[in-house]
Amino acid sequence: MAVSEIIQAKAAGQVEPPPSPPVQVAEPFALIIFGATGALTHSKLLPALFSLWRGDFFGSPFVIVGVGRRDKNDNQFRDELREAAEAHGRMHAGDREAWERFAGNVVYHRADFTAADSYGKFAERLEALEKERGLGGNRLFYLATDPDRFPLIVEQLAAANLARREADRPWTRVVIEKPFGKDLASARALDEHVLRFLREEQVFRIDHYLGKETVQNLLSFRFGNAIFDPLFNNRYVDHVQITMAEVGGMEGRRGAYYDGAGALRDVVQNHLLQLLALVAMEPPASLGAKDVHDEKVKVLRNLVPRDGQEVNRWVVRGQYGAGTVDGRPVLAYREEEAVARNSATETYVALRLGVDTWRWAGVPFLLRAGKRLGRGVTEVAIEFKQPPLRLFTAVTQNGNLCDRTCNCGADCRCGIAHAEPSVLAFRIQPDEGISLSFSAKEPGMQLALQPVRMDFLYGKSFRQVLPEAYERLLLDALRGDATLFMRSDEVTTAWEFITPILEAWQGQPAPDFPNYAAGSWGPVEADRLMSGCQREWRQF
Ligand code: BG6
Repeated sequence: MAVSEIIQAKAAGQVEPPPSPPVQVAEPFALIIFGATGALTHSKLLPALFSLWRGDFFGSPFVIVGVGRRDKNDNQFRDELREAAEAHGRMHAGDREAWERFAGNVVYHRADFTAADSYGKFAERLEALEKERGLGGNRLFYLATDPDRFPLIVEQLAAANLARREADRPWTRVVIEKPFGKDLASARALDEHVLRFLREEQVFRIDHYLGKETVQNLLSFRFGNAIFDPLFNNRYVDHVQITMAEVGGMEGRRGAYYDGAGALRDVVQNHLLQLLALVAMEPPASLGAKDVHDEKVKVLRNLVPRDGQEVNRWVVRGQYGAGTVDGRPVLAYREEEAVARNSATETYVALRLGVDTWRWAGVPFLLRAGKRLGRGVTEVAIEFKQPPLRLFTAVTQNGNLCDRTCNCGADCRCGIAHAEPSVLAFRIQPDEGISLSFSAKEPGMQLALQPVRMDFLYGKSFRQVLPEAYERLLLDALRGDATLFMRSDEVTTAWEFITPILEAWQGQPAPDFPNYAAGSWGPVEADRLMSGCQREWRQF
């Protein structure tokens, strides 16, 4: 039963509460990771699999096969993974014994996955492992390699009869890491290629943001409570702000990928548009994958503007110069390793867009994402309108009504405090939770209002440590639940919106970069995107 089905059945009173853990991979499986020596495998995938195994989520025998080009044996590979898990704080001294037992299920296969003749040998090894461990042939292939390799790997898996398009049982599934294409044309080409060898139900396009607890909670919050969603529309909402601010820059050789991508491709096309879709979508008919995907696609299809015309009016891009982050000096982007010295790649982007639907027409959605910003925060904030009649207006020192043009600035202290617009903020990370800010009467004889907050913090309300996004996504892929993955049309519809911006940029003279200092909040030019909104960009 899929998680969504269990939730629905429970809501309908049809099932007893499931035993703990409520969801398990019931069938034996082989999980094959291409790109086994890469950073993702070390820092995310293996620690997530170890956590799932320890949490008893694998109810049957399994094997994890790392495929990589470097020469090493199983033990060297296991040691390397353990050291990486320790270095990333995902394993501690007391976990050693458990790790040893888990690691018995992890093997390494050396192969040049760009060479067609290596797949035959790999097939033999995999079949032998499956036979020896009684796995029955269920296979999850995880493509964590350089994206240029995705088409070839899928094709060769099919040619070697390792991935079977026709057969439902034993199952074959393929997880494809982001980026899924570089623009609309390449995403479509990749999709067409992949779908020649696999059915859509076999393809799991990952966006790790969808695996985050707090992102999943957007749906639970909106549709699991009757009191909030009725306010999510153009009658009550002034604007929506979505922020993904990172303090990190181009650690290690990250620049080698990033310089060819930029912020718009790296996080807006996927993470930010996914957050937007979850906030703006209509209630789905069910929590099943198809219904959720259908509603998200409708939002993406209705994003405006769509043609990249006058793109500089509604999109602002930036690149960081040298600056100070957490009290230490950091390099300018163009000085980072593996970055071109005259790079025009954006490390910051802010957009003002709209969702042309009955519910959202006229409401600005302001998105911003950037590297080397003042603080690491990911948040979705719904900023509500002022009440229709402004009963609570502040009085200036000379007795006039303060209309915010009194030059006191944002921190206006005229007479009594203003009634501030209410804000509902979903904190994706850190300090995961939800807060509602609203105005309350300040104690005292005068009628003065102060903004106050009601906070829900995951850390306070729940005792469990939040699972890592990759734990949830790997578990779902192994169980065949695609709800938290991106369907083909979701990816291409997002690219349809993003590609005209990229094309417009290409036709423009090189931007005047750098235009913000590392450790700041991005280019000041982004402030003009807020024009007509009740507030400025949120400060953290
Ligand atoms: C990745 C981007 O998808 O998400 C990175 O490629 C970014 O550039 C990362 O740093 C952020 O993920 P998280 O989970 O740390 O917010």
